[in-house]
Amino acid sequence: MAPNFLMLVCIFIILASGAKLYVNAVNLTLVNLCKETIWPGIITHNNNPGEGFTLKMGQTALYNVPDGWSGRIWARTGCSFDKNGGNASSKCQTGDCGPSVNCTSPGNLPVTIAELTLGVGGLIDYYDVSLVDGFNVPIVVKPANGKGNCSTAGCDGDLRDTCPSELAVKSNGTVTACRSSCDVFNTDEYCCRGTYLDPVTCLPTNYSSAFKQACPGASSYAGDILTVTCSSTEYIVAFCALR
Ligand SMILES: *[C@@H]1O[C@H](CO)[C@@H](O)[C@H](O)[C@H]1NC(C)=O
Ligand SMILES: *[C@@H]1O[C@H](CO)[C@@H](O)[C@H](O)[C@H]1NC(C)=O
Ligand SMILES: *[C@@H]1O[C@H](CO)[C@@H](O)[C@H](O)[C@H]1NC(C)=O
Ligand SMILES: *[C@@H]1O[C@H](CO)[C@@H](O)[C@H](O)[C@H]1NC(C)=O
Ligand SMILES: *[C@@H]1O[C@H](CO)[C@@H](O)[C@H](O)[C@H]1NC(C)=O
Ligand SMILES: *[C@@H]1O[C@H](CO)[C@@H](O)[C@H](O)[C@H]1NC(C)=O
Repeated sequence: MAPNFLMLVCIFIILASGAKLYVNAVNLTLVNLCKETIWPGIITHNNNPGEGFTLKMGQTALYNVPDGWSGRIWARTGCSFDKNGGNASSKCQTGDCGPSVNCTSPGNLPVTIAELTLGVGGLIDYYDVSLVDGFNVPIVVKPANGKGNCSTAGCDGDLRDTCPSELAVKSNGTVTACRSSCDVFNTDEYCCRGTYLDPVTCLPTNYSSAFKQACPGASSYAGDILTVTCSSTEYIVAFCALR
């Protein structure tokens, strides 16, 4: 059984994005249901400004973004930031974006990515959870209210448990992440390039099928992008477990 979500929300809410609350805004509520501390990384689609922070097990952070915000959110694990938010030797085991707690570039592969593109003035929002660049922790994106399709993207299936051994990243004998077949083999077929570029030839493979099986609600390869539409003022981005 997953821990009681509302109970966790009540324990501790931190305001993640400085002090500023935008007027026409959307709240992204980030919840760490993992059994370890994570360091969410956030960048906007023009890679600037970026941000990041520590989210301990069971903690919830409110990240308030302006109308029309577009960006990606992922989890970093196993980071070694000091109390000043990092020095030259700081790094993370997965999802690393450089030696600072604040990210200004995307996380290193393999990494599970939540992508959101919010509409201006209540127009349609688009979101998906992508395993196209591999997997490190489960992510679920779920609108708290809203009009439209609004289905939950992603899932809490843990691909670290079922990762094909050719794709597994291990540390100390434990699988810490699962690489995409494109990342490992770099062939046109797995990467949907060259003659495999169009929808007719960019097909599922045994590897992307393993990803799909672990997490049917996420995009599993370049030819399988599951974008959901909704119009909501709050999205819950849960790491590791939420149904
Ligand atoms: C976002 O959360 C803050 C703090 O709880 C709240 O004051 C604000 O009304 C919320 N904004 C939206 C758009 O829900
Ligand atoms: C950087 O931070 C790490 C982790 O806290 C610490 O062990 C290391 O001594 C620091 N290095 C410098 C040069 O401050
Ligand atoms: C990270 O960004 C926050 C918010 O902009 C800022 O308050 C903090 O000082 C930054 N930390 C580092 C280590 O750059
Ligand atoms: C996937 O297919 C490739 C090529 O046909 C094969 O070499 C590999 O063993 C298969 N892997 C799995 C996990 O099924
Ligand atoms: C590897 O596992 C051993 C035994 O559990 C532990 O003492 C050690 O700190 C681990 N090393 C790393 C790099 O996680
Ligand atoms: C909502 O979107 C999801 C993902 O694209 C899709 O699978 C589902 O069928 C849609 N539901 C409705 C009612 O349109």
